[in-house]
Amino acid sequence: MADGNTLWHGRFSGDASEALRELNDSLPFDRRMYREDIKGSCAHVEMLHHVGLVTDEELSEILAALEKVAGEISDGSFEWMQSDEDIHTAVERRATELTSAAAKIHTGRSRNDQVAGDLRLVALAEIDSLSSVIFDLIEVLLKRAEEAHKAGIYLPGYTHLQRAQPVGLAHHFGAFCWMFLRDLDRLADVRRRTDVSVLGAGALAGSSLPIDPMFTAQKLGFARVFDNSLDAVSDRDFVSDLLYVLSLTGVHLSKLGEEICLWASSEFDFVELADEFATGSSMMPQKKNPDVAELARGKAGRLLGNLTGFLATQKGLPLTYNKDLQEDKEPLFDSCDTIRLTTLAMTGLIDTLTFHASVMADSADSPFMAATDLADFLVQNGMAFREAHAVVAGLVREALEDQKPLMDLVKENEQLGDQAAELLLPGVSSQQRTSHGGGASSAVATQLVALRERVDALR
Ligand code: ARG
Repeated sequence: MADGNTLWHGRFSGDASEALRELNDSLPFDRRMYREDIKGSCAHVEMLHHVGLVTDEELSEILAALEKVAGEISDGSFEWMQSDEDIHTAVERRATELTSAAAKIHTGRSRNDQVAGDLRLVALAEIDSLSSVIFDLIEVLLKRAEEAHKAGIYLPGYTHLQRAQPVGLAHHFGAFCWMFLRDLDRLADVRRRTDVSVLGAGALAGSSLPIDPMFTAQKLGFARVFDNSLDAVSDRDFVSDLLYVLSLTGVHLSKLGEEICLWASSEFDFVELADEFATGSSMMPQKKNPDVAELARGKAGRLLGNLTGFLATQKGLPLTYNKDLQEDKEPLFDSCDTIRLTTLAMTGLIDTLTFHASVMADSADSPFMAATDLADFLVQNGMAFREAHAVVAGLVREALEDQKPLMDLVKENEQLGDQAAELLLPGVSSQQRTSHGGGASSAVATQLVALRERVDALR
C-alpha cells in the first residue's frame, strides 16, 4: 500500500522503493534554497489573494505558517520527514501541518515553475555576493599595484615563460585587475538574463485559473516576466551562463595561482608568502608550500567539469521539464562555493605577499632583456627594424658564444656605441615602453588612474 505521504501518492497503490527515493530525492542538496522557496511561496500566495483565490484570513494564516517554517529551518528545529522529497515538498508539508489553509498554496502552481523560480532567486543572490567577493580581490590587486608602482618595483615580463622585456610589477597586477573586471562585467550580463520571473508558467502551459504572473514577478522584485511557459519551465540557460562565467573566473584565478607558485619557488624567489597563507611539509622541514595558489590552480578543473557536465545533461532534452534538470543545482552550488572560497583565500594571499624587489630587478636587468631596446635605438636612427633585429641578434650571439659582456660589444659597435650602451644599465630598459598601455612607469601611471576610476565607479 502507498504510504500516502508523497505529493503524488493519489495515483499510486504501491510504495516508492528505497532506491527510487534515494535517487529521486533532492532534499539533501536543495534544502539550501529554503529561503528562496518560501519567498516564492509568499509572493505566489499574495498573488492568489490578489486575484481572489485566497481569502484575507487564509492569506494571513498561510503567510504566518510560512514564516514559522522559515524560522524552524533556520534555527534547526525543523523536523525533516523521510517523505520530504525536496525542499518544496518539505515546506508545503510543514505549512499544511500548521494551517489547513496551506492546502491552497499550490493553487495554479507546479513544482516545475516553482523550482525554476527558486533557482533564479538563488542565482541572483549568488551573482551579487560573488561579484562583491571578486570586487574585493580586484581592490587588493589594485592596492598592491599602486604600492609596487610607488616603490618602483619591476620584474621580467615573460613570453613562453622566457624572460622577454622588463615591466613594472604594477603592470603585472594591473593585467589581473582588468581580467577580473571583465568577470564582473560578465556576471552583470548573466544577471540581466537571470532576472526573469517564471512563476505562473505552471507545469508547462500556464493555468486555467485567473493567476497574475506580473503581480508575482513584481512582488519578488524580478525585472521581467517570462513570455513562453514551455521555455520558462525548461530554460536553465542562466545556470549554464553562470557556470561558464564562474569557470572563466576560475581560469583567471588558476593563472594567478600559477604565477604565485612560480614566484614563490626558490628558482624565481620573487615573493615570500605570509605564514597565514602558506603550509609546511610533514617530512621536509625546510618547505613553505603555496597550497592556496595551487588549489586556485587546481579548482579550475572542477569548475570546468561542472560547466561541461551540466551542458551535457541538457543536451538533447525534449521540452519541457525533465527530471534531468534536477541535476542543475549541485554543480551550480559547488561552483559558487568554490569561487567564493578560492577568491577569498587568494585575496588574503595577495594582500600579504612580500615582494623581493631586488631579486626581481636583478632578473629584469639581465642585459639581454634590453635587446629590443637596442634594436629600437637603431630604428630611431633610421635603420629598418628587420635589419636592426639582425644586428642586435648578431651581438647577442657573439656575446653568448665568445662569453663577452654584451655591454662591451654594444659600446664597440659603430651604430650603437656609448649612448645605446646606457640602455643596458639597471632599470633603464623597464622604462622604455612608454606607449599607450605599456610597461614603463609613465604608461602604468595612466593605467592605474583608469583602473582606480573603474573600481571607484563600481563601488
Ligand atoms: N526537485 C525537483 C527539481 O529539482 C523539483 C521539480 C519536480 N518536478 C516534477 N515534475 N517532478 O527539479
